[in-house]
Amino acid sequence: MLVALTGTPGTGKSTAAELLRHRGREVREISDIVRSGKVSTVLDEERGSLEVDTEELDEVVGKELEGRDALLVGHLSHFLSVDLIIVLRCRPSVLAERLRVRGWSDDKVGENVEAEGCDVILVEAVENGAEVAEIDTTDLPAERVADAIEEVLAGEREKYAAGHVDWSDEVMGWF
Ligand SMILES: Nc1ncnc2c1ncn2[C@@H]1O[C@H](COP(=O)(O)OP(=O)(O)OP(=O)(O)O)[C@@H](O)[C@H]1O
Ligand SMILES: [Mg+2]
Repeated sequence: MLVALTGTPGTGKSTAAELLRHRGREVREISDIVRSGKVSTVLDEERGSLEVDTEELDEVVGKELEGRDALLVGHLSHFLSVDLIIVLRCRPSVLAERLRVRGWSDDKVGENVEAEGCDVILVEAVENGAEVAEIDTTDLPAERVADAIEEVLAGEREKYAAGHVDWSDEVMGWF
């Protein structure tokens, strides 16, 4: 089964995935696949980031991982042909702090915090058509996030049903 582990930058995808790798799971970072040069990219000069052709990425991932059990990690993973999507969430005010610690500009922090507040990735994930689960990582240390991912993988769905995370109390304060 191919599983996408996605979420706004800074929600802790790579940290949790690394723990799962140590627990024996097959884990692939989308950024590593992109860096391998098998997928076309275009430099977005304004944002200083690489635009990835997700259809081509999907083909490459399909060829490499078809029939395997793997966790595909990254904020583009929910655009791929996967069986299950796990979205990591983080309260916007807490996420802002995590992103500032990275040295990101106010603009970049603001853009991502707004996206988290407005459920952008969750909505995109639901549009994929695959089953979607979401985990609120705000008060969970990384090991507990990894445990929650394992629970979802083991079939626990109700506790992590898409739509149970709600940042509207914070978001309403932005206006
Ligand atoms: N569960 C957690 N609790 C608190 N801090 C965390 C947690 N998980 C990760 N962090 C911290 O948050 C920051 C972002 O983590 P990480 O790099 O894993 O995020 P990411 O979702 O992979 O981001 P990106 O999309 O940019 O790759 C790091 O500084 C990390 O140490
Ligand atoms: Mg990461």
